[in-house]
Amino acid sequence: MAAPSRTSSSSRTRNQPASSRAPGQPAAPKALVRVGLIGTKFMGRAHANAWRQAGAFFDLPSRVELQAVAGRDAAATSAFASRWGIARSLSDWRDLAMASDIDLVDVLTPNHLHKEMSIAALEAGKHVACEKPLAGTLDDAKAMAKAAKAAAKKGVRTFVWFNYRRCPAVAFARQLVERGKLGRIYHVRASYLQDWGKASTPLLWRFQADQAGSGAHGDLNAHIIDMARFITGDEITEVVGSIEETFIKERAIVGSAGGEISGKGAKGKGGKGRSTVDDAVLFLARFAGGAVASFEATRLATGNQNRNTIEINGELGSIKFDFERMNELQWWDDTLESGLRGWSRIMCTNGGDHPYVAAYWPPAHLIGYEHGFVSMAADVVRALAGEAPVVPLADFDDALKTQLVLEASVRSARERRSVSIRELA
Ligand SMILES: NC(=O)c1ccc[n+]([C@@H]2O[C@H](COP(=O)([O-])OP(=O)(O)OC[C@H]3O[C@@H](n4cnc5c(N)ncnc54)[C@H](O)[C@@H]3O)[C@@H](O)[C@H]2O)c1
Repeated sequence: MAAPSRTSSSSRTRNQPASSRAPGQPAAPKALVRVGLIGTKFMGRAHANAWRQAGAFFDLPSRVELQAVAGRDAAATSAFASRWGIARSLSDWRDLAMASDIDLVDVLTPNHLHKEMSIAALEAGKHVACEKPLAGTLDDAKAMAKAAKAAAKKGVRTFVWFNYRRCPAVAFARQLVERGKLGRIYHVRASYLQDWGKASTPLLWRFQADQAGSGAHGDLNAHIIDMARFITGDEITEVVGSIEETFIKERAIVGSAGGEISGKGAKGKGGKGRSTVDDAVLFLARFAGGAVASFEATRLATGNQNRNTIEINGELGSIKFDFERMNELQWWDDTLESGLRGWSRIMCTNGGDHPYVAAYWPPAHLIGYEHGFVSMAADVVRALAGEAPVVPLADFDDALKTQLVLEASVRSARERRSVSIRELA
């Protein structure tokens, strides 16, 4: 990456929109972050959009260029590159990881590929932003964290796309906890419910343990474990009980992957194969600070399409978040006189009060799923220039902590016992 120009941030807040520069004021010369994407489907689109939009909405210290994309299918990758205005399309990801004109490699592939792709890029001196979960297995995640530690000595950074941290309501919830508004935290209740994993959904990579690692667990519990750690600022020390279940044992073998997530329109190859991952995992845990927690993830919660929820009950107040109403945070202030206590629905859309939203639209002009990725791309660009992100970013070491909790839960379910994080670290 070209040497970052450490733009003076004294006169601007970190979530200030680009348009707030005084009219006529010349823009400072910008360093450049040249990004290469590996993967072109669901997350490929989310990230291509994020990198393109970040500098348009946020006033960033560096300019972002989408330099290249790599995918397995040359024609589809080339079409993706044209659609998103990406200069170069490659059919071997190694060429992208090694390319001298790329500063950051963005890994958007199935989980079993995260380790090889990330480590190759780190060893080539590239910053790496990798999708969650960090990896399919704890061993892979540990190897990635080790490689990241070695690369960090040479100034190379890592990031993991826990995008829900950057929903303004979730980032604001963290700030409320930091400000002591909830007091001591007693209880965290998190669930991530989807319903696309029906028997009619074919045997996509997400149902194959050798590619995904786990099912709903690594896919969905990874998000809510991260959100619980992020909002509370506390670490899980023990999984005290867990249950995992695979309800749909066999699925149709696919010849082509079909649409995003559920593989709609996938072409069958004939025959059925075994699903080797969970459809649902529920577990109980303890935090270092003494709070108790429950986590639930399933892809068979009929009627719940993307219901990512977290509730935190504290001594002085409580919060509730539901991604299906992502612009809102429910808040109970227990310090009010008893007759006034009640749940408030806070629209987290006020630029002066709520993180990130000043960069987008006026109050109550709502934002959506893609904005979490745009805000994260902006924070990554800031971090590469030595500036602080609006709220903390997860790196490989941080994401390893979430992976340890995932593994503790699997062992707890299979061995029917409590599992401390310390025994896995
Ligand atoms: N942050 C989130 O909310 C979120 C949401 C969905 C998925 N994810 C994560 O993103 C990652 C990708 O998921 P997705 O939904 O985009 O999957 P997808 O199946 O839609 O896309 C996977 C992409 O990887 C490409 N790929 C596979 N093998 C490859 C190889 N050898 N070389 C180059 N490209 C290869 C595929 O061609 C495809 O473009 C997973 O780790 C998943 O857990 C995160």
